[in-house]
Amino acid sequence: MKALVLCGGKGTRLRPLTYTLPKQLVPVANRPILHYVMDQIRDTGIAEVGVIIAPETGEKIREALAPNPWGFRFEFILQEEPRGLAHAVQVAEGFLGEEPFLMYLGDNLIGESIVPFVEEFNRNDVEAMILLKEVEDPRMFGVAAVDEAGSVRYLVEKPKEPPSNLALVGIYLFSPAIHGAIAEIEPSWRGELEITDAIQRLLERGRKVRSYILKRWWLDTGKKDDLLEANRVVLDELVKEELRGEVDGASRVVGRVSMAEGVRVRGSTVRGPVVIGEGTVIEDAFIGPYTSIGRGCTIKNAALEHSVILDNAKVIDIERLEDSVIGRNALISKCTRNGRALRLMVGDDAEVLL
Ligand code: TTP
Repeated sequence: MKALVLCGGKGTRLRPLTYTLPKQLVPVANRPILHYVMDQIRDTGIAEVGVIIAPETGEKIREALAPNPWGFRFEFILQEEPRGLAHAVQVAEGFLGEEPFLMYLGDNLIGESIVPFVEEFNRNDVEAMILLKEVEDPRMFGVAAVDEAGSVRYLVEKPKEPPSNLALVGIYLFSPAIHGAIAEIEPSWRGELEITDAIQRLLERGRKVRSYILKRWWLDTGKKDDLLEANRVVLDELVKEELRGEVDGASRVVGRVSMAEGVRVRGSTVRGPVVIGEGTVIEDAFIGPYTSIGRGCTIKNAALEHSVILDNAKVIDIERLEDSVIGRNALISKCTRNGRALRLMVGDDAEVLL
């Protein structure tokens, strides 16, 4: 079995972060989302991984995977335009050949191992298997109608009247029969070749498609609040206490805090779960729970909580910052000369709530 990881797409919903960073590399608890995806694939024993890349961001994806601690044989496959998930499979047909494969969207995070999912696919004689998750409002997802035995009856994209509350998670298993199904579908109203249409085509031909219901969390990191939620959940579950760097006698570090090499904490309180990246300086500050701070940041005379601060950003003289995502190299500071005036240099698509 091979794996196909989708790292194309435009990532419009996470702008402005995604102007300079592919969505799949946005960090959650200081690690790119894509690295969690690769951890999951490694656990299945798959060794060959095709990665769909876009012309604009492909180079950054390659760089992020280059250290390859997973020992994969990577093949990078260029998708000139994001013309849909089924289009990505079409572009990868040469790499996939006549083998079954695991397809994984490079921006999806889930809270349990996919190994049982892959094992169940291997045990059953089916053409596809989809991962589903119960959601509160299924109307904005692809939704599956499933029988009691777990066989999929049909799929609908963003239904007004959902047949169930089971949404399609971006993780699928396919036999090579999917290629024939994709060849038969037409682009949808949004101009994309939809994988749900291809799976629906398999069902119409009488092929078997099974489902597997995810019990724990699933996070699609599409928007800012999803990203903060992903950060919260991952910090809660995965962060181990690890204190490198220096903490002076006037500081307090409480709870699970992971601090990288070269971090300096002076006159501050850090209350975990928190991660702090290499070389960051925290001075006269309060860092509250569920905060991830990247590398080379400066946090001075400020209090922050439940936020994601990317590399080399500075937060200085800020009374309280909450529920925020701050991009790389950004500066958030208060102008002390005239307390009432705001002096801003805000990039395209930024959001400033004062
Ligand atoms: P989406 O979130 O559906 O699309 P997007 O990345 O364009 O995001 P946005 O809606 O914010 O503009 O894509 C899901 C994943 O699949 C994501 O990791 C990108 C990837 N993808 C491709 O690789 N090729 C494609 O043609 C599409 C549509 C998505």
